[in-house]
Amino acid sequence: MLIRRKKGWEIPEREATPESVFLNRRDLLAAGGFGLAGFALPRGALAAEDADPSAGLYPAKRNDRYTVDRPITPEEINAHYNNFYEYSTDKELADAAQALKTRPWTIAFGGMVEAPRTVGIDDLLKAMKLEERVYRHRCVEAWSMTVPWTGFPLADLVAYAKPLSGAKYIRMETFMNPEMAPGQNQPFYPWPYVEGLTMAEATNELAFMVTGVYGKPLLKQMGAPIRLHTPWKYGFKSVKSIVKIDFVEEQPLNFWQQLQSSEYGFWANVNPEVPHPRWSQASETVLGSNERVPTQLFNGYAPFVADLYKGLQDQPLYM
Ligand code: MTE
Repeated sequence: MLIRRKKGWEIPEREATPESVFLNRRDLLAAGGFGLAGFALPRGALAAEDADPSAGLYPAKRNDRYTVDRPITPEEINAHYNNFYEYSTDKELADAAQALKTRPWTIAFGGMVEAPRTVGIDDLLKAMKLEERVYRHRCVEAWSMTVPWTGFPLADLVAYAKPLSGAKYIRMETFMNPEMAPGQNQPFYPWPYVEGLTMAEATNELAFMVTGVYGKPLLKQMGAPIRLHTPWKYGFKSVKSIVKIDFVEEQPLNFWQQLQSSEYGFWANVNPEVPHPRWSQASETVLGSNERVPTQLFNGYAPFVADLYKGLQDQPLYM
């Protein structure tokens, strides 16, 4: 529990809570407690959909190349179990995240590019071909979900941004607005949230820019209007609510690395054999079920990504 200061998502819930309490809570989720009257729709879902001018773009056609061996996690569960420290360190942050204003929203491309440019989210959506992909989503806290994201390959966004050939990394940044996101008033954290990938990772076919989920625009608590999802990496790599994308030569220092570099690194590839310094990564709790299943190398995506790491075995690839 000690990260020299406690931070909710870093501690598997089973460690922070007696297991009986944890399991009961999950039993409730699995039994459909969230599906009953008052919770028939995830809070915030309607508001997000109504206000979003891109609603007509969803649902997009599913790309069946990316199959999973697990059922999709019910939206009611996913929508109330999130990590978005800008709004709360609790998982139930859906209400708080409704303060996120997703229009107008621009994304600025800079650094090593042919020409810096800024694009509005709705213009970007018009320029990209949307598809749905069902991906496993594995948090470093040892829980997982299966999520029907909608979006477009990050490789398409890279092509759109026209980076120079010398660019080695892509660096993505979340908005910074403490009035809109009260968590950003906590000076302990190195705001804004930043993440990065190598250019080879960014252009791997799995790397996905997410703008929708469950067949509609992305919910605010999940990082609307645009976030990353890299399914072979721990969830903290999947930066939410992006406003700035730079192409750089130096490896970006991410949010969690800045906070605790002994526990969180740049690569963060899922590996059941490399424990977090304070807990095992050998298995994971599948949210919405009572199952604890073995974790797979690269979260089951090794055929797509293992080659990216050839020759890099001396790097801390799994933290
Ligand atoms: N992005 C921002 N801006 N702020 C955050 O707190 N949390 C990360 C990641 N992206 C986070 C973020 C972590 S720890 C995880 S596990 C995933 O988002 C959670 O995504 P989800 O809430 O959609 O499951």
